[in-house]
Amino acid sequence: MRFILAKDATDVSQRAYDFIRKSILQNPSLILGLATGSTPLELYKLMISDHKRGNLSYKKVKTINLDEYVGLPEGHPQSYRYFMDNNLFNHIDIDKNNTKVPRGNAINLDKECEEYSSFVSTNRPDIQILGIGSNGHIAFNEPGTSFNSSTHIVKLKDSTIKDNARFFENESEVPQQAITMGIKDIMSAKMIILLATGSSKAEALYRAIKGPITEDCPASILQTHPNTVILGDHTSSFWIRVNREPE
Ligand code: GLP
Repeated sequence: MRFILAKDATDVSQRAYDFIRKSILQNPSLILGLATGSTPLELYKLMISDHKRGNLSYKKVKTINLDEYVGLPEGHPQSYRYFMDNNLFNHIDIDKNNTKVPRGNAINLDKECEEYSSFVSTNRPDIQILGIGSNGHIAFNEPGTSFNSSTHIVKLKDSTIKDNARFFENESEVPQQAITMGIKDIMSAKMIILLATGSSKAEALYRAIKGPITEDCPASILQTHPNTVILGDHTSSFWIRVNREPE
């Protein structure tokens, strides 16, 4: 695991984009694992603006997203499919048939989970972009999730529902469940880039990088991944910089 202290959120996004750009130039059919949330938004803006300048094409790129709320139809403004379409896919030249997001409204969710994991195993992401939850979750793998998990349905923790309520009219509208790639699926990526910005991530980031490898902090498993880069800004890396455990 390599930790890079970036200047600020813009620098985090720029550095992540540099990895992606270089990799797509080397391999135009790259498989890119993507994440939702507010953290990667600036990265997606960079991807769009550079594409619009004619610098990078996504014609052959395939994407695989981490997760989706259960029960929201694809066109729901808070669904992750809608998020990806609006914040990235609609603005670049990617073929939408090459973009995969779990279907949270599938009639048979168990089958959707099985098929998603098997898809990931035959389409291992070359790069997987990750954010981190303030409780150390990755994708929607909440604390306590088995490191051996494949794609599954989760009941979201209250803290996650609270964190994500800002995107909904009110907290009661946040779905209670989600479908998420499991930790084993995520770890199958050839390279992982985790982005963390803001002080609300400082404790989780410390535990992910310096804490024990434990299912209580799902992101701590990344310490065992052979090619993970963590990009943190000054505020998210506060406890790492002062080199002591959060109080
Ligand atoms: C959600 C997503 C995660 C994301 C996390 C952090 O729970 N499922 O993939 O990393 O939020 O989101 P944000 O970047 O908005 O802080």
